[in-house]
Amino acid sequence: MPKSFALEEHSPRKLRITNFSGLVFGSLSDEVPDIEDYVGPEVAAKVRRVFYKPTQVLGRFTQALPNNWKLYFENVKDSYHATLLHLFLPTFNISRLTNGGGLLISDDGGSHVSYALVDPEAEARAEYKEQGLRTDSEYRLRDPSFLKGVPEFGDNISPQILSIFPGFVIGQVENSVVVRQVLPKGVRATHLNWTYVGFDGDDAEMTRRRLRQCNLIGPAGYVSMEDGAVGGFVQRGITQAGELSGVLEMGGGEAVTTNTRATEAAVRGFWKAYRSRMGI
Ligand SMILES: [Fe+2]
Repeated sequence: MPKSFALEEHSPRKLRITNFSGLVFGSLSDEVPDIEDYVGPEVAAKVRRVFYKPTQVLGRFTQALPNNWKLYFENVKDSYHATLLHLFLPTFNISRLTNGGGLLISDDGGSHVSYALVDPEAEARAEYKEQGLRTDSEYRLRDPSFLKGVPEFGDNISPQILSIFPGFVIGQVENSVVVRQVLPKGVRATHLNWTYVGFDGDDAEMTRRRLRQCNLIGPAGYVSMEDGAVGGFVQRGITQAGELSGVLEMGGGEAVTTNTRATEAAVRGFWKAYRSRMGI
């Protein structure tokens, strides 16, 4: 080596990392803003809402998805599909689009929160029966005890699904909390890394409650099993269409915060953010 060689001038690229509510985010870019500025105040507040004290990892695993990462991330953004694809939710009165709630969307469109307000009176309300909804079934769980959550987050929000562009998701359903990392593994393959968490101070009963409620969300979850398959169905379908394309604008072109989940605004936000960063 010449005498002019200085080791400190040849270090690998530095990974910027930051700890936000116990979650570690990293970037190789010196230009991305701080994470709270990146997601904006509304989304940041909902991260803090769930990660309100130090966490304990309850378990983790990786799920292989047979589709492009964008189809999964779009699925997370799609607030319509929760009660259409996941019939467990409306069948057992866990969540309906008629429950209160809404979408919070970051200024760039890329990050979002979908939240519903628990409606304990829903089952008793006559309107479902009068409307004869196909999900207004007589099916009941023989053991519904695992669905019973306890107040924890200081409000009556459940579920809350939160995404940070391009590949980070927090899911909270009752007392079940899970982080998902979306890792592209090729054009037609994605890995989802799931990490279930509890919090410091949980007693054995709370840990058992969280673990039982983990049965709702996950690769074999009562609610979200379908998400692991539907991306593959969509990818096979659109591949057959070659260069054809179709656009159905159900609710205009904006991607802004709204007080209803009956909108595809978060999906539009995702594609706005994607196109902006990809320059297309
Ligand atoms: Fe889903």
